[in-house]
Amino acid sequence: MHNLEEIKLKALEELERIKNLNDLNEFKIKYLGKKGIITEMIKNLKTLTLEERRIFGAKLNEIKDFLEEKIEKKKEELIDLEGDFYDISLLGYKREFGNIHPITRVFNEIIDIFLSMGFSIEDGPEIEEDWYNFTALNIPKYHPARDMQDTFYLENNKLLRTHTSPIQIRTMEKNNPPIRIIAPGRVFRRDELDATHSPVFHQLEGLYVDKNVSLSDLKGTIEIFIHKLFSKDIEIKFRPSYFPFTEPSLEVLIYKDNKWLEILGAGMVHPKVLKNCNINPEIYSGFAFGLGIERITMIKYNINDIRLFYENDIKFLKQIKGG
Ligand code: PHE
Repeated sequence: MHNLEEIKLKALEELERIKNLNDLNEFKIKYLGKKGIITEMIKNLKTLTLEERRIFGAKLNEIKDFLEEKIEKKKEELIDLEGDFYDISLLGYKREFGNIHPITRVFNEIIDIFLSMGFSIEDGPEIEEDWYNFTALNIPKYHPARDMQDTFYLENNKLLRTHTSPIQIRTMEKNNPPIRIIAPGRVFRRDELDATHSPVFHQLEGLYVDKNVSLSDLKGTIEIFIHKLFSKDIEIKFRPSYFPFTEPSLEVLIYKDNKWLEILGAGMVHPKVLKNCNINPEIYSGFAFGLGIERITMIKYNINDIRLFYENDIKFLKQIKGG
């Protein structure tokens, strides 16, 4: 009993000297922790007689409550003194990592494939002139693409490019063959936003001009590209099509989920287009292709609504990772 009173006084003295929360914590562990002095004594009560147990038990509980109360008080004092209190025993917050937008991800993937085949990247303006967007591409005056319904016209005969094909013209004007470029970019059309249309979307253009470029070069290039982007065993189909700036023109389809899906437009660069850029079609030939990034991303990841790309709902964006 005497001993217990001594322990209590010693603890109290010790407590008084404590100046920070860490030491206070250690103090608490020393006396009241699982293997603490008081705790151990309480555990040892069972070796005593019933009578002793009653007396010592009561005393020990009193000391325990007393110390707990003192420790709490001291803690409050120290918190006031220390200002900001960091409880290092709390669990940390899990940090959220950003995610690359699916459009950017697929863009990068496609660009990497073409870079590995020796294409280089070209850029062009989003605000275009009629010549680059239409005339030089052999798109006649009466062509529906020129309609006010389809094109955003700006002041001074400028317009927002409706495809990335004007970059073909800009590149051929500046450079002599061999030319082997891709041109990623944003394009604009007067479409209402719905599940499959957006007034702003992304395309990637490809152009290869050299001596003896043939349709089989185009087919080979596209096949390698599709096999790399989707899978080695995906079925591919080429179907005749029409674009004013290519002759012949074709559409490329892949077989996925029991359907044939159109994934890009392509063709041999029209001789008139080469001439418009001062490239002699008697000497040179070329192929071009254009693909919609949104469409390919939707097919690749089974996304059924283009609007998901622009709403930036975190729950959607988080689903498309890796690759
Ligand atoms: N510019 C065409 C479009 O936007 C795509 C295309 C590009 C087709 C190059 C053929 C060759 O639809």
